[in-house]
Amino acid sequence: ATDKPISFEPYADNRTLGGFILIDKISNRTVAAGMLHFSLRRAQNVHWQATDIGREAHAALKNQVPRILWFTGLSGSGKSTIANEVEKRLALMNRHTFLLDGDNIRHGLNKDLGFTEADRIENIRRVGEVAKLMADAGLIVLTAFISPFRAEREMVREMLADGEFIEIFVDTPLEVAEARDVKGLYKKARSGALKNFTGIDSPYEAPTSPEIRVNTVEMTPEEAAEHIIRKIMPLK
Ligand code: ADX
Repeated sequence: ATDKPISFEPYADNRTLGGFILIDKISNRTVAAGMLHFSLRRAQNVHWQATDIGREAHAALKNQVPRILWFTGLSGSGKSTIANEVEKRLALMNRHTFLLDGDNIRHGLNKDLGFTEADRIENIRRVGEVAKLMADAGLIVLTAFISPFRAEREMVREMLADGEFIEIFVDTPLEVAEARDVKGLYKKARSGALKNFTGIDSPYEAPTSPEIRVNTVEMTPEEAAEHIIRKIMPLK
């Protein structure tokens, strides 16, 4: 897909308008060449359908301001546990919430995805779209995904209104997450039985300026949840 429409002709008819090269914008080197045969019509002939009950109405009925609380951190860092604690506190305050959790979403919507770089990017793209729909429905959405790449977290931030995306870095050093190894996955990854494991042979890019950071070495999950609630309140 291109970010803007481009004019072309099939390569068979016109070599100039039907051929292309891809240039890496950092190194300026040509990294690929290709020929165009025909365009796909995937997103053409599809128009945005306006609806009368919009996001403001949904949110107003729930008497709240939608937010995305985006938890990111290593496997075993405590994202799901803390997100669950935060959601319980919000529920007690009569907030309408929904928690999207990596392991759960990978059982359904994203069960076709694995842990290669491309699959993780697609995982986060879909989760971002779902979270956005839920925010449009007026909900306070909590997401608990490793979401290891800065670029995709920023992509989700860009999809949302200003101030709606709250990045929460569940900051647990690798040694600590590995020592906990709740699911036994670090052990498997170290033995070579599990490939592309975050922190071992797949990178984790820590947030540089998250809205909230919780240090799970110093805080219990309950304390971390309290800290987050204090930071996000008043949510109206
Ligand atoms: S993400 O990187 O694409 O954001 P996500 O949060 O959905 O990951 O899924 C992570 C969960 O999948 C982990 O908590 C762990 O239980 C499981 N898992 C299985 N294989 C891997 C792997 N190679 N790397 C990381 N997590 C894995």
